[in-house]
Amino acid sequence: MAENFTKVASFKTLADFRQYLHEKNINIGLAELPPAGKSALAAKLAHGSRCIGNRWAILPMEGWDCGSDGSPGEFTRRRWLNFAGSGAKLIYGTEAAAVMHSGRSNPQQLLVAEHTAGTLQKLCTEMRQLHRDKFGNADDLLIGLQLTHSGRYSHPNQAAVLESVTAYSHPLLDKKFGNSAANVVSDAEVKEIIRHFVKAAVIAQKAGFDFVDIKLAHGYLGHEFLTAYDRPGAYGGSFENRTRFFREIAEGIQKAAPGLEISSRISIFDIMPFVKGADGVGCPMEWQGRYPYAFGGDGSGLNMDENLTETVQLVKMMQQYGVSLICATIGSPYYSVHMQRPAYFPVADGYEMPENPLYNVYRHIHAAAELKKRCPDVKIVGSGYTCLQEYLPYAAEYAIANGMVDFVGIGRMVLSYPDMPADLLAGKPLDRCRICRTFGDCTNAPRNGMISGCYPLDHFYKQLPEAEKLKKIKAGYNK
Ligand SMILES: Cc1cc2nc3c(=O)[nH]c(=O)nc-3n(C[C@H](O)[C@H](O)[C@H](O)COP(=O)(O)O)c2cc1C
Repeated sequence: MAENFTKVASFKTLADFRQYLHEKNINIGLAELPPAGKSALAAKLAHGSRCIGNRWAILPMEGWDCGSDGSPGEFTRRRWLNFAGSGAKLIYGTEAAAVMHSGRSNPQQLLVAEHTAGTLQKLCTEMRQLHRDKFGNADDLLIGLQLTHSGRYSHPNQAAVLESVTAYSHPLLDKKFGNSAANVVSDAEVKEIIRHFVKAAVIAQKAGFDFVDIKLAHGYLGHEFLTAYDRPGAYGGSFENRTRFFREIAEGIQKAAPGLEISSRISIFDIMPFVKGADGVGCPMEWQGRYPYAFGGDGSGLNMDENLTETVQLVKMMQQYGVSLICATIGSPYYSVHMQRPAYFPVADGYEMPENPLYNVYRHIHAAAELKKRCPDVKIVGSGYTCLQEYLPYAAEYAIANGMVDFVGIGRMVLSYPDMPADLLAGKPLDRCRICRTFGDCTNAPRNGMISGCYPLDHFYKQLPEAEKLKKIKAGYNK
């Protein structure tokens, strides 16, 4: 039976919330907030030849709102400008941009190509200008573009038609998503995908982005290669082969776009796919014995490898390619959404929470801190804080002050309350009406073929016809 977890909004004080975490044995540190300008979150950080102006980062967030040719649209522009005006000094990737048509997760995904280069450049310039106008300086603002191939989750032509490109035949995911050996990409096709990553990086550099993020997360192609143990040939089997996809992309970028910084968003650990159980609660798919397909996992398919052995090996290898910025995330929105996006409300095609959502916030924070401990000279961006709601700033301050991460990234919170970092840095009280309560509509809308945004709290989305449509769809699901 689904457990009714106490909602964060019901706690009256920080002390009450602390006490609850203590009772539930969820070890999330919360620090008092120092006066404006004195917080650890306000501190600058030197990064190569640059200086990043504070410790807030905006996580990449897609809106399913580009043109069918992949050009950013007006909704995309609004979101990116909100990111630029948030007060955060690290725009970590803006959103996942496909490097080629076949790798688009949906027909409205952003595409990095010759024909979108001009709009990307214009947007990047606008973001810097807005940031400068609002905060007086944009020299300490870093903007990246996240590059991806959606792999198993590609829907390039129709939102409801999956056109999977997989790294290997996965015993559980093939079952869950109806894939077969016919979906496995050939080595020659992999080379072509790599060529597109490099081409996209060149375009991003010309468009004015400070770095490109090579996405090895969330079950997309780059992430899937990391567990391609069963794949024969140059891209499967040994650690060296499973990381070749990343290495060849990085080598290509270094040659074709010298000076462009490379970062990587990594699902630093993973678990086995979850499905809706008979009682509506998420449960792992049936599996006997050791589960090797969860990168960074301990072999049980349910937990992280406490030493993050292969993750650390990967990050150290990346350092040889000049990577000094990593965004730590965990799991996948397609098969472990409760862990990847901790929430109190299940997404419409998902399942009731099998664990306290705050436990999965803890897992994000704990894993990122472990990675930082093992790779101290790499800057780490943490994720998964939104579910903490009004207590997010206290956890963020604690994590930065204690060197657990270098930047605190915010995802869903920035959709409902884009200027939360600016308010906090200015010492203003939080606007409680705009705090994300993890209703999940930013995920529900795209899963029903609609643009994403914060329908419950952002008035701009509230008054769109999609908001009404979404309510009806959800009412149907909840019957
Ligand atoms: C609507 C939506 C779009 C997202 N788009 C991306 C994306 O393009 N790239 C990516 O790496 N993660 C994406 N994510 C994941 C977020 O970056 C983030 O990891 C996740 O929401 C957990 O952080 P939070 O608790 O602050 O929301 C998306 C999440 C949501 C809800």
